[in-house]
Amino acid sequence: MKITKDIIYVGVDDHQVDLFEGQYIVPEGMAYNSYLISDEKIAVTDTVAEGFEEEWIGNIKAALNGKTPDYLIVHHMEPDHSANIDLFMTEFPDAKIVSSAKAFTMMGNFLHNTYADRQVVVKEGDTLELGAHSLTFVSAPMVHWPEVMLSYDKTDKVLFSADAFGKFGANDVYDGDWDCEARRYYFGIVGKFGAQVQNLLKKAAALDIQIICPLHGPVITENAGEYVKTYNKWSSYTPEDEGVVIAYTSVYGHTKAAAEMLAARLEEKNCPSVSLFDLARDDMAEAVEDAFRYDRLVLATTTYNTDIFPFMREFINHLIERNYQNRKIAIIENGSWAAQAEKVIRKMLENSKDLVFAENTVHIMSALNDESKAQLEALAEELA
Ligand code: FEO
Repeated sequence: MKITKDIIYVGVDDHQVDLFEGQYIVPEGMAYNSYLISDEKIAVTDTVAEGFEEEWIGNIKAALNGKTPDYLIVHHMEPDHSANIDLFMTEFPDAKIVSSAKAFTMMGNFLHNTYADRQVVVKEGDTLELGAHSLTFVSAPMVHWPEVMLSYDKTDKVLFSADAFGKFGANDVYDGDWDCEARRYYFGIVGKFGAQVQNLLKKAAALDIQIICPLHGPVITENAGEYVKTYNKWSSYTPEDEGVVIAYTSVYGHTKAAAEMLAARLEEKNCPSVSLFDLARDDMAEAVEDAFRYDRLVLATTTYNTDIFPFMREFINHLIERNYQNRKIAIIENGSWAAQAEKVIRKMLENSKDLVFAENTVHIMSALNDESKAQLEALAEELA
């Protein structure tokens, strides 16, 4: 597939992966993108995950049309992109690797080979001349690892964006709905590094970007500026939409009943969006995604071993790790003999920036009664 006259897609789709990066379900698979720039010098950008070597090399050879590549550009050393460096270097013995100094160190760690006599080490602002195309390297540490470099081709106005602007899902089933799985990917994988993404976006603002070629998901060929704006919102921890996320854990169904009652009341009051997550059963990454998408979050859980229920602790840890901030929080606690949840949750979130706790907290003693139902009504009124 041609992206521009000289840039050809040579990546692969993976429909076998069970958990991406060892934890994320990807029901629509995953794409490992790789591109070939055909010029006086030929460059291939990044490799693909283990298991796809034959298909990837086949794609490259078809795009080469009998020629040989001069460079393998390694933007990111995570193995979903770097697993086939050795294969490339064996197949094309005259090729050199273009990458950051940190990436070469990682290459030594992962592959036990830094290709010392075939290295081209680049840093921020360096260029690689291919002929009509000139690539400028942009350092993007922690988007999503410290060695990451992006590159910009000013001829075709293309940003090779590494993990940035990536998305869960294989490209052969992409239906044009980018936001949902791109957001789950962003907050799951890059969400902790909002400040670093903001730094990158400042540099990107100086470039005329018409096309974004990420390492996962579809190539962005239209309205690139809108995607940059979306990334600006996500990385600045600004809520994207108005709405209430209710995340609950429930042992015997009483906390679930309270969460569902609150959802029903909010919907009756025409709250713009209400989403409900059973943290023991629903996709945790989807719950994290929605917690960052919306401006209000309700945490409903029980006391458990003098702490809170494990899935709620895990959920809050995911939020804290990703610098959860700038939102309104409400708590529904359930304790049959020693209610602890409100205290534990407030303690966990005490260092999170700009959180506002709702005036109303719901205290359930085992099962909803008239008193806790009245508290729920008051909370619904406050949140709606
Ligand atoms: Fe797609 Fe950070 O690797």
